Amino acid sequence: MFKTICIRSLFFASVIIAFIACSEEKKKNIIMPLTDLSKVSLIPKPLKTTPTNSAFALDQFTAIYTSKNATGFEEVGKFLAEKLKNKIDLTIPVNTEGSNTVERVIYINQSDSTELDSPEAYQLYINQDSIIINANTSEGAFRGIQTLRQLVPLESNDTLALQKIWPVPSGKIIDNPNFAYRGSMLDVARHFFSVEDVKKYIDLLAYYKINVLHLHLSDDQGWRIEIKSWPKLTEIGGSTEVGGESGGFYTQEDYKEIVRYAAERYMTIIPEIDMPGHTNAASVSYPFLNGNGKTPKLYEGMKVGFSTFDTHKDTVYAFIDDVVREISAITPGPYFHVGGDESHVTKKSDYIYFINKVEKIVQKHGKRMIGWDEVAIADVDATSISQWWASEENAKKAVDKGMQIIVSPAKKAYLDMEYDTLSKFGLHWAAYIPVDTAYIWTPEEYGIPLENILGVEAPLWSETISNIDELEYLAFPRIIGYSELSWSIKENRNWEDYKVRLADQAPFLDRMDVKYYPSPLIDWKKSDFTYKTIEKD
Ligand code: ACM
Repeated sequence: MFKTICIRSLFFASVIIAFIACSEEKKKNIIMPLTDLSKVSLIPKPLKTTPTNSAFALDQFTAIYTSKNATGFEEVGKFLAEKLKNKIDLTIPVNTEGSNTVERVIYINQSDSTELDSPEAYQLYINQDSIIINANTSEGAFRGIQTLRQLVPLESNDTLALQKIWPVPSGKIIDNPNFAYRGSMLDVARHFFSVEDVKKYIDLLAYYKINVLHLHLSDDQGWRIEIKSWPKLTEIGGSTEVGGESGGFYTQEDYKEIVRYAAERYMTIIPEIDMPGHTNAASVSYPFLNGNGKTPKLYEGMKVGFSTFDTHKDTVYAFIDDVVREISAITPGPYFHVGGDESHVTKKSDYIYFINKVEKIVQKHGKRMIGWDEVAIADVDATSISQWWASEENAKKAVDKGMQIIVSPAKKAYLDMEYDTLSKFGLHWAAYIPVDTAYIWTPEEYGIPLENILGVEAPLWSETISNIDELEYLAFPRIIGYSELSWSIKENRNWEDYKVRLADQAPFLDRMDVKYYPSPLIDWKKSDFTYKTIEKD
């Protein structure tokens, strides 16, 4: 072990020394920009930033190197190169040997430093001739390169030299997430969203260091995932959506592709099959499941709380076992979400019996159960997780049971709430949530002891949105604020400072063709940041 560290350190040191020595000669002619790393509009705000007021000159003579034998590091380097190519049209080689045109390096280094105290922690050192990202794991390195992506200006500063240079402000960033779970939920049941739409959402979330996408895969209006042992779920239950459009579903191959794409971005997919309520689409497909005493019919409206599984039939639990087994087998993440909300036509004793049994099924298939806050009224284990959306009383019950809580209060964190009375999409049963209200609250002080908080999630229900543009209108810019609420410590969060940094996201959002809501509370910037330049002696 010691030997490996020494060899790695020697290699690392020699790479850096070689490049510094090589570029010493050329430095004399370089004109340095005056920068302030602490003023760059990074979101989420890093833990600690120390500017050194100079810059790394990113140009055609830059190369990326990564720790070679550390799993995933080279892929992180390639991801960075691809994103920089898209952003500034510069081709940066990754781990190419023997090139004599390289003058500056970006080194993505696997480090065993004890200062990196979580898998997602990273350190970013930006010097004139080298950028070094230290991380314990490739996940930490991936979070670190998101910060670097935000630091690279869109425009090159052609006044600095004959060739194009993109000055990256120098200094040091030490960073580590406040919460391990930083999520968004997408309801693909009320309206279906294609694999391509979901991938675009994943890309945008990953840029802001969000690491969980919870997919709400079933509801009264639609069943959206292929279950091979119960094919009518998608044939019949997947055929509709709110408003009478034609629905849709993911084949298991589609779902695996979403999971793979998310994993490449160090994001966990959490599948949700909502039950025993919100089950009309399943019951239309297989009427023996139904427990509300009526003949189930396809439903394209927006009411909730009218459906329930029959909680007493063994065949219902055999069905659920198949569904949980098939989905768990293609879900590498540790969680399975069973819904459990708004089961208004399930008797309370039946509800408790049902959740108790379903929790055991989820555990049998190797997953940790998550449920909306109502599940805490059942006899659930401390290892299960409650997602607090509505009831403080249920959240307190979950705490009493020793459960971890995902903080998603509808009044603050629901992305489908309208911004204001003029909003084009959304609902307002919980609140109007303008961009400032979405940001100005403190999950750490919302009534749950800190040790019970797993993290924060912003759900996006889709009754009123049916395409990616409408999804983006509700999600952006608010989701960017939720990323900061869950990554940055509360001492680093401040609305006045945040709203300026948010304004600076406009060029990125425009470049990504994101149809964000241009909230009048924000003085949106239309161009990327530039630097004053000074001659270096
Ligand atoms: C919910 O909004 N029904 C969890």
